[in-house]
Amino acid sequence: MLCSIVLALCFISLCQCEEPKSCSQFYYVDKLLEKMIRIELKGETLDKEIADTNSNVHLTLDELKRERDNFKNEIMEFKNLMKDFKINTDSFIGTMENKFLGFKTETREIIKNMATPNVVFKARTVKDKSPSKGETIIFQDIMFNYGKAYDETTGVFTVPVNGTYLFTVQVCLNNNKSFYYGIVSDYDVHTSGVFHDSTATICYTADATMRLDVGQKVWLKCLYGSPSGDVFYEYTTSTFNYWNTFSGVLVHV
Ligand SMILES: *[C@@H]1O[C@H](CO)[C@@H](O)[C@H](O)[C@H]1NC(C)=O
Ligand SMILES: *[C@@H]1O[C@H](CO)[C@@H](O)[C@H](O)[C@H]1NC(C)=O
Repeated sequence: MLCSIVLALCFISLCQCEEPKSCSQFYYVDKLLEKMIRIELKGETLDKEIADTNSNVHLTLDELKRERDNFKNEIMEFKNLMKDFKINTDSFIGTMENKFLGFKTETREIIKNMATPNVVFKARTVKDKSPSKGETIIFQDIMFNYGKAYDETTGVFTVPVNGTYLFTVQVCLNNNKSFYYGIVSDYDVHTSGVFHDSTATICYTADATMRLDVGQKVWLKCLYGSPSGDVFYEYTTSTFNYWNTFSGVLVHV
């Protein structure tokens, strides 16, 4: 490269020489040195520029590194925040789940307490067709007895839970017989009346609604006896019946 510059310079200088003496060997060397110094100066400038560029590149790299580190730190911070957020969210969900479970249990308990137990019975067929005064009318055939509160051997219903109860009675009487009755609880007469027809055999119904406490007893009582003969009439066919019945149901606790 230098050689070609030198040759080019020599050539230019040769062409510019009008007088052979001014194109002496010293003249070329002089010119050559001059050029070389200039090139060297340029080289130094170039070195300096390269060094500057180098240092700029280093600075930029440092800055990039710093930026990268900052970014890394920010990412780490964000990650930690997300971790905290997840922990908080999980614990919140856990709390809500527990609250909901508690609520469910409480609701179930309330519903359970509100629910009316299945207490209902019906019995038919009187044991004694001519009861005497004060006698308990026993209906001896159980039709159904959920809660087992009615005793078909005694004719007495024993209250299993505090509540409102409805009792119904149907009695069928031979003609010209009277039945003075009372639906009683623990000897208190709640509903009382008399059924009678001089000519026909008829079935009659009676009912009593009571608020009762656990352990109280309810039955159908004969308040007056009849002089003679069967009071109650029982008849069962495939087409119709004369049934004497006693039923009770817990309406509400
Ligand atoms: C109905 O019964 C009464 C007494 O209970 C009696 O005096 C009367 O004769 C009876 N009537 C009939 C038609 O049997
Ligand atoms: C039933 O009622 C009685 C009298 O009102 C009361 O003392 C008792 O606590 C009640 N029992 C229940 C289980 O509610």
